[in-house]
Amino acid sequence: MKQFCFSNDKIIESQNASIHPMDIGFIRGYGIFDFFRTSGYIPLFLTDYLDRFIRSAEKTHLNLEFSKVELAQIIHDLIQKNDLEQGGIRMMLSGGISDNHFSPTDGSLFIFCEDLDFPAASKYENGVKLLAADHVRAIADVKTTNYAFPVWHSVNWKKEGAEDVIYHHNGFISESSRSNIFVIKNGKTATPDQNILHGITRKRVMELDQNVEIRPISFSELLDADEVFMTATTKKILPVTMIDDQKIRDGKPGPKTIELMTAFAAMEKNSVLV
Ligand SMILES: Cc1ncc(COP(=O)(O)O)c(C=O)c1O
Repeated sequence: MKQFCFSNDKIIESQNASIHPMDIGFIRGYGIFDFFRTSGYIPLFLTDYLDRFIRSAEKTHLNLEFSKVELAQIIHDLIQKNDLEQGGIRMMLSGGISDNHFSPTDGSLFIFCEDLDFPAASKYENGVKLLAADHVRAIADVKTTNYAFPVWHSVNWKKEGAEDVIYHHNGFISESSRSNIFVIKNGKTATPDQNILHGITRKRVMELDQNVEIRPISFSELLDADEVFMTATTKKILPVTMIDDQKIRDGKPGPKTIELMTAFAAMEKNSVLV
């Protein structure tokens, strides 16, 4: 965590940030957050992340006291104060302290700046393995702080040499624990439409490949794909070459995935130069 953070209404030393132990963010795991990164001091795609954070607050009945413009100003101040050339920014809004220890009230807002490491270069070159897990995220289209299932399950996937999980239910896939999923078959790209968080990186990929189909994708379609990749702020575009013990095609990152990775890097560069 970097030296300065925003806590409720002002910038303070991060080490002094605190939250009440009876906040339902803590006792019920009820809260929202969002996470984006800076590249050359520019908060990449900031508008999209702020819109999603504000939408998450509305959908979870939480009161966000700052407007989008005010949040953007706080973020710019934090980037300067923390000299955050390349790093992550985490906005958190807790459920608040309520009399019945259950109903959402006015929560605590924090904005932290962090170091951010991407997966090792070898993972982009060789692709990664995902472990299948029958699971549907609660309130999936909201970026809640509830990651209890994947945090618990991560011990298993690490044992199996997997990078993460791929969620499926009733024969259909949705997403990974912190990433969206795309499949490519015969040159056509598709991504699931149900039980997902609408990722900002997913949105950018759909700008780069304007023919992406957004539709239900079965688990067998995933296994039969020519290429699979995952997208996230913390991963950009990462090739997936194995699901459980089954290789995707020849087990190597495919040409369209590599093309999109290059196009995404150029998109990031252009956003920083604007
Ligand atoms: C459940 C879930 N799905 C997808 C994503 C990817 O979203 P983004 O590209 O906005 O990082 C995340 C990011 O943390 C996530 O938590």
